Amino acid sequence: MEVIVLAAGKGTRMNSALPKVLQPLAGRPMLSHVLETARGLGASRICVVYGHGGEQVRERMAAPDVAWALQEPQLGTGHAVQQALPHLEAEGQALVLYGDVPLIGADTLKRLVEAAGTDRLALLTVELDDPTGYGRILRDAAGQVSRIVEQKDATEAEREVCEVNTGILVAPLARLRDWLSRLSNDNAQGEYYLTDIIGMAVSEGVPVVAENPDTVAETLGVNNKAQLAELERLHQRMIADRLMAAGATLIDPARIDVRGSLECGRDVEIDVNCVFEGQVALGDGVRIGANCVVRNARIGAGTRLAPFSHVEDTVMGEGCVIGPYARTRPGTELADDVHLGNFVEVKNSKVASHSKANHLAYVGDADVGERVNIGAGTITCNYDGANKFRTIIEDDVFIGSDTQLVAPVRVGKGATLGAGTTLSKDAPAGQLTVSRARQTTIPGWKRPVKKPK
Ligand code: UD1
Ligand code: CA
Repeated sequence: MEVIVLAAGKGTRMNSALPKVLQPLAGRPMLSHVLETARGLGASRICVVYGHGGEQVRERMAAPDVAWALQEPQLGTGHAVQQALPHLEAEGQALVLYGDVPLIGADTLKRLVEAAGTDRLALLTVELDDPTGYGRILRDAAGQVSRIVEQKDATEAEREVCEVNTGILVAPLARLRDWLSRLSNDNAQGEYYLTDIIGMAVSEGVPVVAENPDTVAETLGVNNKAQLAELERLHQRMIADRLMAAGATLIDPARIDVRGSLECGRDVEIDVNCVFEGQVALGDGVRIGANCVVRNARIGAGTRLAPFSHVEDTVMGEGCVIGPYARTRPGTELADDVHLGNFVEVKNSKVASHSKANHLAYVGDADVGERVNIGAGTITCNYDGANKFRTIIEDDVFIGSDTQLVAPVRVGKGATLGAGTTLSKDAPAGQLTVSRARQTTIPGWKRPVKKPK
């Protein structure tokens, strides 16, 4: 089977510099959802029909299995499909999809393709309470589809029909070539309508069948930002339903956003307003507090993210306690039972098990051993303005509050650093190192007082 994706529309109503089919749904272009679905069906070839401003689309979505056909000017959906034909096999079936109908589902399309078989024309249709704007499916006395009439060409009586054309169809390629070459634009919009091929098929005795999608949402198109936002929520709700069906607890399935893939172990709990981006895997019993953002991360069993934590390109072990207000940046690897508290930032660092930084710290380019305690206000000074250096903190180190570790520097096993230390040389194992002026008290000192005027 071959797939044609229509994506030439200007998308004027998006009011955006970004072409319509590149507008993101769940964090990636609408068109990429359609291409992924097409690939899932085992399409032998995909041809995208692009138009005005389409170079950007081509560049973003280029792939070895995608051919590109330019439609310029845009003379209608029939004309658009015609531009794809030189890129496709002469025979076989072609499935027509739309770059701005991103939620179309693989199961629905499989049924449509099956209904089409090798030689039938199969249409995807839906019944709408308000069919305004859509092409209407007209049937004969026996209930067989006879043709499609567009809203603007329809009579009063035809507009009463509530069964509408979604635009998605499967047609035999050899016939399609012939039909499209014979289209006329003698209609209310002066366009070459793809929908006119249905009447042609019927008159030539090619069987026409209609199928319905699993859900109407799958067939909704996007013309403006409001519709895009509507589809985003519908899509997110479907993801939320899948997560819950697999056992995840979502405190409010209307308040989660998955922009990528989210895998959950058993008994995962996710509080409201969390965003998951890229590839995220949560182990058994992981709990994510409200308002967390997690991007490309693997989080071990039983780990807890308290609210407002931000996790990016991070691997966490089991039983960690993170946040609230913690931030792990790319290259963070936490072993088991690591605690990061409020306003702690970790970047490109490995932290071994049972180590803690509970308040206000920056740990960057560091290797932290086991059972290390990093006091409040501790900072690794990893950057001299030109180059970055590593800090090594061995097992069982205790770092007093408000310490600066000026890298490259090593703190030996079991060492203690006194509060306020600026460590610029290695600290030996097992000893107290402190760099701080001795405390003195000045006897008899008095606060200045205001001079009388
Ligand atoms: C089309 C159908 C209508 C159906 C409706 C569903 C036709 C003639 N009508 O109407 O029966 O109910 O979709 O939404 O097909 N496009 C191109 N090149 C063109 C024209 C359109 O690539 O020259 C693409 C658009 O980008 C869009 C899609 O085709 O993705 C549909 O085009 P649009 O003009 O919105 O068709 P409708 O008038 O809504
Ligand atoms: Ca339209």
